Amino acid sequence: MQPDISVQNLNKVYAGGFQALKDINLDIRRGEIFALLGPNGAGKTTLISIICGIVNLSSGKVFAAGHDIVKDYRAARSTIGLVPQELNTDSFETVWDTVTFSRGLFGKAANPAHIEKVLKDLSLWDKRNNRIMSLSGGMKRRVMIAKALSHEPEILFLDEPTAGVDVELRRDMWDMVRGLRDKGVTIILTTHYIEEAEEMADRIGVIREGEIILVEDKHVLMRKLGKKQLRLLLQQPLEKVPGELALEPVELSGDGFELVYTFDSQQEQAGVAKLLRTLGDLGIEYRDLQTRESSLEDIFVGLVHE
Ligand SMILES: Nc1ncnc2c1ncn2[C@@H]1O[C@H](COP(=O)(O)OP(=O)(O)O)[C@@H](O)[C@H]1O
Ligand SMILES: [Mg+2]
Repeated sequence: MQPDISVQNLNKVYAGGFQALKDINLDIRRGEIFALLGPNGAGKTTLISIICGIVNLSSGKVFAAGHDIVKDYRAARSTIGLVPQELNTDSFETVWDTVTFSRGLFGKAANPAHIEKVLKDLSLWDKRNNRIMSLSGGMKRRVMIAKALSHEPEILFLDEPTAGVDVELRRDMWDMVRGLRDKGVTIILTTHYIEEAEEMADRIGVIREGEIILVEDKHVLMRKLGKKQLRLLLQQPLEKVPGELALEPVELSGDGFELVYTFDSQQEQAGVAKLLRTLGDLGIEYRDLQTRESSLEDIFVGLVHE
């Protein structure tokens, strides 16, 4: 299947000479939720801004829904909805007018029924006659989403959508995102909240210092890089890891009261059995044991700091 977004050998050098994106190659599939993860300054907003035609690319090619975003800008842009990272909403206009006008900008015929549905879905219907500038921050963000959806885009970008957002809006937003995905809308979100990507995404891309360092199906990523940990709470503290265990991935923590064994999720439990046998032979007693799986957060922190 043709990708919905195709980024090919994309480079961005800002006017001052800073290279924000380095040879990016990335295909986004139709109808997927793609999470772009990366620390602050990695280039997430730059990449999104280029695909949306807000920032010029330096070299490379980008296609959105089959349209070249440079040669065929209007066609490309009309397939895209963008909820930007920064809110620009000190407008005197009403919610209804702003969202309706936004649709018109994309050359779409008026469709009050669609605008009504979008406003109702975002709990903005009661506020439709309010001026934007009179709304709370959360409500303004809802308006930004409504604007992005006003022209029925097939691709939706959400740039750090939940940074500083209250729990209720966050929940509404994810419900909405899932609903849109079910209708076939392609969704790309950036975040540095890893739990969000873990919960929402089908695929995950990691960007660091302008380079995509990994793109993977979320479940494959968790399986491939996921580790398990066995934590034994000891009866008596140890001063160091016993020589018999020196070759194993075993560490002491908690003032010597905890023995932590880290192993691959895919590996069978043979290592655990051996460890427990060795402890038994050494007469080391434990009063409790816990296992935990590494989260996407552990994996991500490992990747970004490698
Ligand atoms: N207009 C600009 N001029 C020069 N450098 C910029 C500009 N915009 C962003 N940058 C730099 O590009 C890098 C990537 O920024 P950005 O894309 O905003 O990252 P992110 O969204 O991942 O936090 C940062 O180092 C940032 O300082
Ligand atoms: Mg950003």
